[in-house]
Amino acid sequence: MSNYDKVMKLALERGFYFPSCEIYADAPAGFWEYGPTGVSIKNKFIDLWRRELVRRDGMMEVDGCQIMSKSVFVASGHIGNFTDPIVKCTKCNSIFRADRFIEEKTGQRVPERLSNEEIDSLLKNNGLKCPNCKGDFGPVSRFNMMFRVGIGPAGEEAYLRPETCQSIFVDFSRVFKTMRGRLPLGIAQIGKSFRNEIAPRQSLLRLREFYQAEIEVFCNPKRLDDVPRFDEVKNTTLRLFKDGDGAVIAVSAGEAVEKGLIPNRLVAYYLALLTEFYEKTGIDVSRSRFRRLSDEEKAFYASVAFDFEVETSTGWLELVACNYRSDYDLKGHAETSKEKLEVVDPADQQKVLPHVFELSMGIDRSLYTILEHSYYEEQAKDETRAVLKLKPYLAPVLVGILPLMTKDGLGEKARRIHSDLKRDFDTFYDESGSIGRRYRRLEEAGAPFAITVDQTTMQDDTVTVRYRDSMQQVRVKVPDLAQFLRDSLLIK
Ligand code: GLY
Repeated sequence: MSNYDKVMKLALERGFYFPSCEIYADAPAGFWEYGPTGVSIKNKFIDLWRRELVRRDGMMEVDGCQIMSKSVFVASGHIGNFTDPIVKCTKCNSIFRADRFIEEKTGQRVPERLSNEEIDSLLKNNGLKCPNCKGDFGPVSRFNMMFRVGIGPAGEEAYLRPETCQSIFVDFSRVFKTMRGRLPLGIAQIGKSFRNEIAPRQSLLRLREFYQAEIEVFCNPKRLDDVPRFDEVKNTTLRLFKDGDGAVIAVSAGEAVEKGLIPNRLVAYYLALLTEFYEKTGIDVSRSRFRRLSDEEKAFYASVAFDFEVETSTGWLELVACNYRSDYDLKGHAETSKEKLEVVDPADQQKVLPHVFELSMGIDRSLYTILEHSYYEEQAKDETRAVLKLKPYLAPVLVGILPLMTKDGLGEKARRIHSDLKRDFDTFYDESGSIGRRYRRLEEAGAPFAITVDQTTMQDDTVTVRYRDSMQQVRVKVPDLAQFLRDSLLIK
């Protein structure tokens, strides 16, 4: 079984995620839901993001609407450009995403910005036919990936946002003025986005409805090297992918700017913050890289783009798109809305239409990667144990409370300990099955600790605390448990 399949099995069995509408035969593909353990790790991931990026950098957060007017997407360019190339079989009418189809059949990468005619030629030159009926393909056309909705009885045209950041651009001048912003200013948002993917697949990896954590940093293009907090990260290692030989070079953020590998300090600063954030998630950052995208690969709004990619069993996975969007969005919204979106930069009292650098994070993919990088199996006595080595501050359950048996007052004592801890910590009380089986269940849910109440507890008011990874046990006094657990939650 591949690691992807193992994580999927665990996700289904331990309540992390599962398909939406799964009891119905017409459940559409590309929609997945989080169960109790999934919601818990997602909330904790978001707390960490807020701590390590939003609060660390003094950003501001907004919470915008998911349905936005057509004008927003005329201005943003999504009506015209947010399309995928599709091809239809002239015989059986099956539809395929043309670029992905060519990539799968030939193993050759198809750049994002190829014209329909260029993709047509690739299909022809490779002799590609419909895999279902061997029929010929018609000409390549474009499919807009936004979900259109009709508002009110007249069905006024509007769209589900395909990226959360459009609300940030539309709200920018109000937020900047009312909150007395200074440039650079990060405005952040967590929320759902929607893309009508032609070929959704691999559970959380390509969804039609998904969570983004986006940060749009508004900056003065004349001062991209004026980053007062750069010193905090100048020694942080950035892993940069070298295009030619496919190697990764590890350089400090300071060196990356000096050598011209990263265009300016502002970009290097945020790539460093992002790296430090992912280190704290438990993802193995030695298997990560920032890959600078070629002109053909970049999104239509980006002038410079780095993808933060992490190696998984499914290949290199893009977790964050780091795009320098210049004034593309604010200019588009100013022109379409006829509103002035320039602001006065307090640093020099000059009017400026800020540029934007964004960190657009896929939450679902990040969670998948955390699970995959945390998962391991090992032989414990005569059975194999599957463990999720989650950081305590991300674990859905911090501690299980297990009476060795329920008689002689042990069950009652364990329930009392559980009741004392459960408001401050994520706890799980379990008295069913053998103690070994109960440990296994906790390990699969990533719980870092198990508290066992035994006969000694009744004599000296101590319990054993068992560590998930080392399986070692220490005795802790019951009144000291809360402090023990609080200490374990320190972020590192
Ligand atoms: N905001 C960039 C993206 O959604 O990819």
